[in-house]
Amino acid sequence: MKIKISKSAIVKPGYSLVAIISDFSQLPADKFSDQELGFIKEKLNNENQLIEINKYDHWVFIYKTDTTKKDFEQAEAARKIGDKLVSAFKENNIKQIVVENLSGIDGLELAIIEGITLGSYQFLKHKTKDVTKKLNTLEVIDIFCENTTDKQVEDLSAICEAVYWTRDLVNEPANYQSATQLSEEFEEMGKKAGFSVKVLHKKEIEDLKMGGLLSVNQGSVEPPTFNILEWKPENAVNTKPIVLVGKGLTYDTGGYSLKPTKDSMDYMKCDMAGGALVAGVVAALTSLKAAIHVIALVPSTDNRIAANAYSPGDVITMFNGLKVEVMNCDAEGRLILADALSYAAQYEPELVMDFATLTGAAARLVGPKAACVLGNAGEEIVNQIKQSGFTTFERIVELPIWDDYADGLKSEIADMNNVAGPDAGTITATKFLEKFTSYPWLHFDIAGPAYLLRRDSYRGMGATAYGVRLITDFLRKKFEAKS
Ligand code: BES
Ligand code: ZN
Ligand code: ZN
Repeated sequence: MKIKISKSAIVKPGYSLVAIISDFSQLPADKFSDQELGFIKEKLNNENQLIEINKYDHWVFIYKTDTTKKDFEQAEAARKIGDKLVSAFKENNIKQIVVENLSGIDGLELAIIEGITLGSYQFLKHKTKDVTKKLNTLEVIDIFCENTTDKQVEDLSAICEAVYWTRDLVNEPANYQSATQLSEEFEEMGKKAGFSVKVLHKKEIEDLKMGGLLSVNQGSVEPPTFNILEWKPENAVNTKPIVLVGKGLTYDTGGYSLKPTKDSMDYMKCDMAGGALVAGVVAALTSLKAAIHVIALVPSTDNRIAANAYSPGDVITMFNGLKVEVMNCDAEGRLILADALSYAAQYEPELVMDFATLTGAAARLVGPKAACVLGNAGEEIVNQIKQSGFTTFERIVELPIWDDYADGLKSEIADMNNVAGPDAGTITATKFLEKFTSYPWLHFDIAGPAYLLRRDSYRGMGATAYGVRLITDFLRKKFEAKS
């Protein structure tokens, strides 16, 4: 991340100013001529929320927040303005800005900076031409606000760094990122940030008899990996760990249940977004030195066609001994997650949360704006996550896991089938996973928000790193109050 965010006690000369106000009277009158004040007033009265003024050696951007809106809505609006500013900075070759919050509403400076920083993300590593011209210009953000603490600034930087890293992992094409290469990325970040990474390779996965992961991997020329990332600070407030499980499918062709149309495969490099999300949360919590013991499990492979690939009709034996009749090789995510979920039991976890681009049905149900959440962790936890969902604007929608949704998973010849017919695909996929859980648990289907085909403000285009900010916020609020 090339943007450096810090507090500053002065407004440095030549820096462009981003001022947040909620009322015209808060404008620093000495900074503007009468003509400019008249112009600003007229524009603000016309419901314009963002005004740009060229002061020749710098720019002034004034943003008026709408105080009739709820706090979290104002924060989200400020993030979106932050993203708009990124283009204005680029257009005018602005490299340094100072942000001042005069609105009287705490935290809006952090929200606008979050929008600026996340909106500035670019994935240009595979561009070979005119890269400098394409690059965003902003490098320095000063915060000129008494109320902002150094800790808030450090936290915001750490979280944005984790989002950048997660987006990079998801945006990387599969021909640059096999399961082994993904594990190497985890190891490198573990060393840099300070969390531990243990990678189980094919031989160990075979010894453990992880039949779900091994079967999906069967048709691949790349060996699978099973990644265990851990942050265990001495001052952890939880005695039982939080376990995060993430789907690490580096590429999903659908296998022998080949994806039907060309474009349904085009973006399937994003099928490891759940794995990248949980790694991003561990990286963020480590950088924040959060007093939380957290373990992330990421089973990883690609899903392809080959003479020896697993096939519809195969019966496979899972890590926990259950036998599954594979009726759809494109329902592979649940097979690798199931092994990881059974594996998680040995940690006697306080709570397990898994994240996966699991069903197209989830994306169709809620679109790119939210994830579907299902499980047995109870209303209190789900409500806390819903709340964090509004705070971070990474929202969730809860779906039921009523027992009869498992009816279609019955198999004539094995313990269960891996698919349950055309209806309620997100729920039936969760009912499959449930058979491999034995602790408080929530499943997040992130197929909608993980990867965007059209730019959506500061969430960007391509990988969004959806969930990193949500889960970091939820875990910190849940545990840090106790530390
Ligand atoms: N990786 C896909 C789900 C997906 C779809 C992710 C769109 C992101 C965007 C998953 O492995 C899959 O193929 N699911 C099937 C399940 C079906 C065969 C029961 C699906 O949703 O069609
Ligand atoms: Zn699939
Ligand atoms: Zn998949």
